[in-house]
Amino acid sequence: MSDDILVTAAGVEVHFPIRSTAPFRGVTGHVRAVDGVDLQVRRGETLGLVGESGCGKSTLGNALLRLVEPTAGRIEFDGVDVTALPASQLRSLRRRMAMIFQDPFASLDPRRTVGDSIGEPLLIHRLRRGRAAQAARVGELMEVVGLDPDLRGRYPHEFSGGQRQRVGIARALAGEPEFIVCDEPIASLDVSVQAQVVNLLVRLQREFGLTYLFVSHDLAAVRQIADRIAVMYLGRVVEVGPATSLVSTPEHPYTEALVSAVPVPVPERERERRRIVLHGDVPSPADPPSGCRFRTRCPKVFEPCPHHDPVLQSVGATGATGATGVNGASAEEPGVSGASAEEPGVSGASAEEPGVSGASAEEPGVSGASAEEPGVSGASAEEPGVSAEEPGVSAEGAADDGQHLPAQHLAACHLHGVTG
Ligand SMILES: Nc1ncnc2c1ncn2[C@@H]1O[C@H](COP(=O)(O)OP(=O)(O)OP(=O)(O)O)[C@@H](O)[C@H]1O
Ligand code: SF4
Ligand SMILES: [Mg+2]
Repeated sequence: MSDDILVTAAGVEVHFPIRSTAPFRGVTGHVRAVDGVDLQVRRGETLGLVGESGCGKSTLGNALLRLVEPTAGRIEFDGVDVTALPASQLRSLRRRMAMIFQDPFASLDPRRTVGDSIGEPLLIHRLRRGRAAQAARVGELMEVVGLDPDLRGRYPHEFSGGQRQRVGIARALAGEPEFIVCDEPIASLDVSVQAQVVNLLVRLQREFGLTYLFVSHDLAAVRQIADRIAVMYLGRVVEVGPATSLVSTPEHPYTEALVSAVPVPVPERERERRRIVLHGDVPSPADPPSGCRFRTRCPKVFEPCPHHDPVLQSVGATGATGATGVNGASAEEPGVSGASAEEPGVSGASAEEPGVSGASAEEPGVSGASAEEPGVSGASAEEPGVSAEEPGVSAEGAADDGQHLPAQHLAACHLHGVTG
């Protein structure tokens, strides 16, 4: 394993049993929330993970931290196969991983002061001995995230949404992690506060050398912070690539649709933007379509798509990784994302905090989260099937009417391992 890879997922599946409510019928099927994902997270990078609600982002993030048990596949953290580790050894490794949740109100215990919540991982991982040392450390952590340490005796409901998320971040840092899964960390915040929290995450990453998996349904937000982006659809990663090239030259038709929904800040280019609206509901993860699982909504669907389950492949030309399907791959490193302005309105200072890292994977619950998916209109649940007459998509103002398959489509499908 390359030294610059911190986390590796290989063929990871997480299938949740569907239990019948009828007596004695037992398990009647499985929700294939994550269904064969290969992915690598590089040390020090922010890997964005985007996709529509229900595509499996949170489940994958939780599986990487082993907060949910994978049904199949292997997860390595810093070269150690965590899927094979007994609970006792997993505990010490967990200190090096953490989670920041979408809804800090739900993830913080309302009956505990924020100081106690932030300090809990110190106790769990025995990181500071004695009350005075623990209290000092809690104060440091609060300063690092821009909170006044004098507020440690207050309860979560006494804080604003942005402040509560800072508490959640301080708690995540307490265990001194290297890898943090940020699961929609700004989705529940006011727009005015979102940038402050993103800036804080960027600053912390720089200061403490953190590695992030930044989960979001919002490609526009992910593009701001991510070095690379992985796109998920119905339990699979369909494309991975450097953030800049994935957005400028998406390879996969689903990525194209997501990208087409992101407003362009340049007025002339914004006027030219043609939004691809996907019709139809996302199929059930309990019963995904045959072949390419995007085929029921793909604007470029053609005859072979129901019969081929395409494999994620490296796409040399752009350095991106296009695909629909199982095997992950890697792409070229872009420049580091980031940048930030100091966030106003919160107290606090940034405090020198060398070597902090830390966070608790002891966190309970997993934030549900969900929001409207970018670039995707609900609309007709009508299955287009495979016919090119009925592509299941309308590209507003697009030249492609779906009646034929331009060379570009064929090239794209070729990249996905599907040939006509
Ligand atoms: N514990 C569970 N038991 C059964 N099904 C589950 C469980 N957790 C998630 N699922 C199902 O797995 C699929 C993926 O869910 P997940 O929460 O990972 O999606 P997501 O991409 O994070 O969505 P969102 O953007 O809404 O947060 C969904 O169909 C969801 O209903
Ligand atoms: S394989 Fe077919 S259905 Fe799948 S993304 Fe490519 S063109 Fe669309
Ligand atoms: Mg989620």
